[in-house]
Amino acid sequence: MKLKHSLFSRRQFLNGLLGGWLGALAASFLYPVVKFIFPPYREPDKVILPFSDYEDMGPNSVRNFPWGSKPGLIKKEDDGAYLAFVAVCTHLDCNVVYLAEQKKFFCACHEGWYDENGLNIGGPPPRPLRQLIIEREGENIIVKREGVE
Ligand code: FES
Repeated sequence: MKLKHSLFSRRQFLNGLLGGWLGALAASFLYPVVKFIFPPYREPDKVILPFSDYEDMGPNSVRNFPWGSKPGLIKKEDDGAYLAFVAVCTHLDCNVVYLAEQKKFFCACHEGWYDENGLNIGGPPPRPLRQLIIEREGENIIVKREGVE
């Protein structure tokens, strides 16, 4: 049976086919580029750090460590205890620094302030800094997320 009226001409059909094919080709090239530029964040369960890198820290000082693709900060308290934080602001993910003289964490993006325990005390940050669990195990420091064995 032959149709009297087609919904589209042969030229329109071929143009649509070619356009779809070109779109799929462009997407197959762009997808890996976009994934490379904006990699998905995968948070580690834990990181193992050599204690020797942190044992010489003075009281009220911090030192960086890599927490996945984000920065982490290990802070040595005045009493010698260690705390660990994800050094990313809870407002819009800028990096925070520790100002030892003021005993505060500071985010320069929008002037966000956290106290020495990571509690948000000024500016736009809506939540405290994310604290991690830190344990000493032999010659290593284990920094891990809450709930990880
Ligand atoms: S990102 Fe830190 S205050 Fe806005």
